[in-house]
Amino acid sequence: MDVTLTTSRLVLRQPRLADAERLARFLDNFAVSGNLARVPYPYRLADARAWLRSWRPDRRPGETGFTIELPGEGLIGHVGFHADLEGTVIGYWLGQPFWSRGFMTEAARGALEWYFAASDAEAVHSGVFHFNKASLAIQKKLGFIEIGTSSRLCLARGEELRHIDTRLTRAAWAANRATPGQQDPVNR
Ligand SMILES: CC(C)(COP(=O)(O)OP(=O)(O)OC[C@H]1O[C@@H](n2cnc3c(N)ncnc32)[C@H](O)[C@@H]1OP(=O)(O)O)[C@@H](O)C(=O)NCCC(=O)NCCS
Repeated sequence: MDVTLTTSRLVLRQPRLADAERLARFLDNFAVSGNLARVPYPYRLADARAWLRSWRPDRRPGETGFTIELPGEGLIGHVGFHADLEGTVIGYWLGQPFWSRGFMTEAARGALEWYFAASDAEAVHSGVFHFNKASLAIQKKLGFIEIGTSSRLCLARGEELRHIDTRLTRAAWAANRATPGQQDPVNR
């Protein structure tokens, strides 16, 4: 799939090799990677290049993702789906200079809108390390509910941490997006 999504302020497009420098700039920050399961710290340009070289645009919806681009600025983050034991999982991060402006709520909403339309999945899983209140707030705004806790490795911290597990069902998504004020226009 080579899909580009547009939300009110953002463009969600396929990652490309030219993203490496900005990817490394924003991920080589413990404030970002210390909240993620699978990103090492430090994070070098070579890590970004290796990850981007492994990217294939023909993956199925539950195993793909999007570079988040702010027009006039360039790459500001990433939102993606991957397969885990529990099913499809959504993960995301935003470069620190762009936090607290509602961008990730908007990007995650756009990606989920696309995912539920592009697949017949009944649910998407996610979660947060126990201290990540901003990310949990985003997930709750989108209709995720807490379904338990687990222990997950945080690569950047090199330790297992308590993880709050969440799930968004297709039905909860439909109900949430029907709520006034919850929509962001998404074009394909
Ligand atoms: C978490 C992250 C994605 C948030 O992105 P963002 O664009 O700043 O998020 P938004 O502005 O869309 O929404 C954040 C929400 O959290 C709320 N929030 C922020 N800090 C909070 C706190 N300490 N307690 C409760 N809510 C909090 C904000 O008020 C906002 O909700 P609102 O819009 O209803 O006011 C970003 O900080 C990030 O990339 N962090 C590092 C990586 C990461 O944590 N990824 C997610 C892993 S699960």
